[in-house]
Amino acid sequence: MDLIERPRRLRRTPAIRSLVRETTLHPNDLIYPLFVKEGIGLREPIESMPGQFRLSIDELVAECLEVWDLGIPAVNLFGYCNKKDALGSEAFNPDGLIQQAVSALKDAVPQICVQTDVALDPYTTHGHDGLVMDDEIVNDESVEVLCQQAVSHANAGVDWVAPSDMMDGRIGAIRDALDAEGHTDVGILAYSAKYASCFYGPFRGALESTPSKMDKKTYQMAPENVREAIREVQLDVEEGADVVMVKPALAYLDVIRVVREEVDVPVAAYNVSGEYGMILAAAEKGWVDRDQAMMECLTAIKRAGADMILTYFAKDAARLLSS
Ligand code: PBG
Repeated sequence: MDLIERPRRLRRTPAIRSLVRETTLHPNDLIYPLFVKEGIGLREPIESMPGQFRLSIDELVAECLEVWDLGIPAVNLFGYCNKKDALGSEAFNPDGLIQQAVSALKDAVPQICVQTDVALDPYTTHGHDGLVMDDEIVNDESVEVLCQQAVSHANAGVDWVAPSDMMDGRIGAIRDALDAEGHTDVGILAYSAKYASCFYGPFRGALESTPSKMDKKTYQMAPENVREAIREVQLDVEEGADVVMVKPALAYLDVIRVVREEVDVPVAAYNVSGEYGMILAAAEKGWVDRDQAMMECLTAIKRAGADMILTYFAKDAARLLSS
């Protein structure tokens, strides 16, 4: 054939392919989500998330040393709460589990960027991210509690708080509350475009936080919408978000792409529990190769425009990348 263009020339050898690679994944793109539970020496397997554990604080410290050694710069902490009440009081207890975990971690592994989830769902009996009054998830009252929660994490020494609750106006309110307490250096990783997704199922098993009544559709976004995501992201940036997040990641790659083009702040994406579970389950059946599927999905999230990825695969991916 008389061809001038032969794209295959640039695919001929591994060396050439490495020269023309457009997207590269690196351990320092990754954030490892971790679950903390009361106890000592506790490393409790999470049934709905094979390979993930609920860790007591001592085990969490050991885990984070390993995570840091793998080149992963950040962890994002979720608390398993056994003192749930209607108001989520444990969320802002200055001596609460997460608060203790943060200060222990900042003592033992000060280099690592410690991030905490800000939302009430693990702490409330009803499992909602905000307060419930007369069968309604109320906004402004919830934001007040979320501010207290964020400040309590900041007092414990957290690097970034990550509000995942999707209440209106909470980024600005949390920024003000942090600043008023002198925490001007604490960053906000805003779950800006968080969709009402079935892919959170395994995570809710990990924290026993499945809502007891009503769903989350009055605060989390409808999967059909993308303009609304841009609006949410713009509002969060105006209110002071340092980083904005799209969640979940794999079913929302187009959203990651438009958000990346819309704002100048870094964009995070959350490769959530159900996305993790799908790969594990298919690999167990022998239908896909676990490591290849993991790397292909993480690369796709990066290619879509994410600067950083929260993923339960963080350690496995970092190991693979450095081997
Ligand atoms: C709740 C929260 C959820 C996740 C992170 N924070 C679940 C929910 O909104 O119900 C899900 C993470 C995952 O599925 O991996 N504040």
